[in-house]
Amino acid sequence: MPITYHEQKKLFSLAGENTEYIFALDYAGLIKHLYWGDKTSCLDDFDAGFTFEISSNDPSTELTPEEYSPWGGLRYKEPCIKTAFADGTRDLALVYKGHEISGAVVKINLADAHYPLSVTLCYRLIEDLDIIERWAEIANGGQEPVTLQSVASAEFNFKEEDLWQSNVFGHWISEQKMFRERLTPGKKVLESRRGGTGHNHSPYFILDNGADEDHGRVYFGVLAHTGNFKVTFEKTQYRTTRVVIGINDFDFSWQLKKKETFRTPSVFCGCTDKGFGDMSRRLSILALTSIMPENHRGAVRPVLYNSWEATLFNVTCQGQMELAEKAAGLGVELFVIDDGWFGQRHSDKAGLGDWYVNREKFPDGLKTLIEKVNGLAMDFGIWVELEMVNPDSDLYRKHPDWIYNFNNRTPSTSRNQLALNLCNPEVVAYLKGVMVSLLSDNNIAYVKWDVNRPISEPGALNLPIDDQESIWYRHTLAFYDIIETLRAQFPHVAFEACASGGGRIDYGCLMRFDQFWTSDNTDALDRLAIQEGYSYMFPAKAMRAWVTDCPNFIDKRSIPLRYRFHCAMMGSLGIGGNLNKWTGAEMEEAKAFVAQYKEIRNVVQEGLIYRISSIREGHAAVQYVLGGESVLFVFTRGEQFGRELFTITLKGLDPARRYTALIDGFPVEKSGDYFMKAGITLHLPGDYASKLVRITAKT
Ligand code: GLA
Repeated sequence: MPITYHEQKKLFSLAGENTEYIFALDYAGLIKHLYWGDKTSCLDDFDAGFTFEISSNDPSTELTPEEYSPWGGLRYKEPCIKTAFADGTRDLALVYKGHEISGAVVKINLADAHYPLSVTLCYRLIEDLDIIERWAEIANGGQEPVTLQSVASAEFNFKEEDLWQSNVFGHWISEQKMFRERLTPGKKVLESRRGGTGHNHSPYFILDNGADEDHGRVYFGVLAHTGNFKVTFEKTQYRTTRVVIGINDFDFSWQLKKKETFRTPSVFCGCTDKGFGDMSRRLSILALTSIMPENHRGAVRPVLYNSWEATLFNVTCQGQMELAEKAAGLGVELFVIDDGWFGQRHSDKAGLGDWYVNREKFPDGLKTLIEKVNGLAMDFGIWVELEMVNPDSDLYRKHPDWIYNFNNRTPSTSRNQLALNLCNPEVVAYLKGVMVSLLSDNNIAYVKWDVNRPISEPGALNLPIDDQESIWYRHTLAFYDIIETLRAQFPHVAFEACASGGGRIDYGCLMRFDQFWTSDNTDALDRLAIQEGYSYMFPAKAMRAWVTDCPNFIDKRSIPLRYRFHCAMMGSLGIGGNLNKWTGAEMEEAKAFVAQYKEIRNVVQEGLIYRISSIREGHAAVQYVLGGESVLFVFTRGEQFGRELFTITLKGLDPARRYTALIDGFPVEKSGDYFMKAGITLHLPGDYASKLVRITAKT
């Protein structure tokens, strides 16, 4: 049985195929975490026991590894939940009331000892992946509102004394760069306070005690939330480690009115003893089978062309049609027009909010362009940035009160724009209306949904004073509401989440969008590091990657077209260069790469990823495996000291099967065992050398 309950001990076990998670009610009435690790055969030996206080300064509540610590009593650790009752009591005393087990879900019902507030801890076991979805439901059964001052999704407790945490860090054009560090006594916080997930860190935790790609214990949990998040690592005074993950409690409060329930975002967590690679593959299977939007989940991602880097704001019907013809000639399947098609949007200074087609640029609307694109056998996609407005726009002139702001403050502009107040239902209705018209009136198959600045002056003047600190989360909920409404009404449309590049890469978006725009940084060398960091927690299928022009607009670096293609072929291939400037030879080369990508894309998009070596260490080797098919990508930075030969030991093959590796056009036939032990040797001379090797099992 995957979920086991022991009545006498009030003990719960969630057992996946390889791992087990155990907790129980202890004699003090606390839900105590007991175990997370390899599947056991000794469940009967577990019991919660009693945690004794060490001293008057070390109370048992501080020592007990609770599944969801409330703030109350003798607790000084980071809480999961902090409440204030209407009469001024700021103390939550949770008492176990019972539980429900239904299939793969177990819910632990807790309630305050006095006030009619319940807290339900929810666990859903995904047995074959050894992953558990956790969330909490807080219900106010009383008449008076209760203020939630913090409400995390889950808490995790670890006995190991020496744990390392990994995450990404960075900024615009520098997202997803991986780092790993040893946790030291005290707290470490990774968070966003920007209203969006942001470019700085990602809402997840990865902990290990000396793991590498293929070996060692790794614990992980990824939060399905787009917005202010907080991951707190607490290496306690007792040398244990706690993690509390969820909505950021900074500038947060939520008035839980009578009979209302607050459901936290989910955390998908798991553990493995097979290193970071196994973690990534488990999450990738989870994403591909049950997280990504169902209606497009199974479909391969089309090869896309996006005209942004080619034209910036200088879009015209004629110019786009010319690019479309060239893109179609390369084998592109989806043509996306980016910023600049609407309102008086000639630069980033004006027009945002005015979602009507600019008739100077498109005299008969988008019809001529879309018909042209469709006539070339391509789908048509379009860029929008709904949550924002330029002060120089008709929308702002008409509704200056539709933005976030405080009384007596001048709202800060960033990229010449202001954030619309999505807590105002009128604004949400307007945005839905705009999109419903756009998608009903035009044959649009793809929407790139952008957001280009964080929220500031977070005041929603339509909301009561008591609700002001809820705006961060309300914005997220309204954003979800708009995208979910559109998805329901236009199921054929695929959506891409973009936030100045990779500022909205999270599982909240992964549930509602088909793709991420990974970064505005399209330099292939930088991109290898960005894509590597991304690959730890997110699937290749959702990763849009473009081939653009050189010298690159960011770092002026020139990299061979071949390398740029190979890099972008590791996700969902796109092209973003100015095709008007590509030579005949470049167009021919590009056409061949697009054709090759179509042959291998199911392996990249649906397969399992194996990171073999990292560009951070000199050269990158990444392999994708789907059944008997595999694709290996190898990249160097620059030749040094005459090193041109690289031996790559493959991963993920069946040792007993025979495979053919096509190396520089020559077939090499060996067993999977040979390829994974002796490896293949590749010749990669010169600077920015790259290679794509297909490995196919013999039938
Ligand atoms: C953001 C996006 C880009 C592009 C521009 C358009 O920067 O990340 O890809 O869409 O906006 O203004």
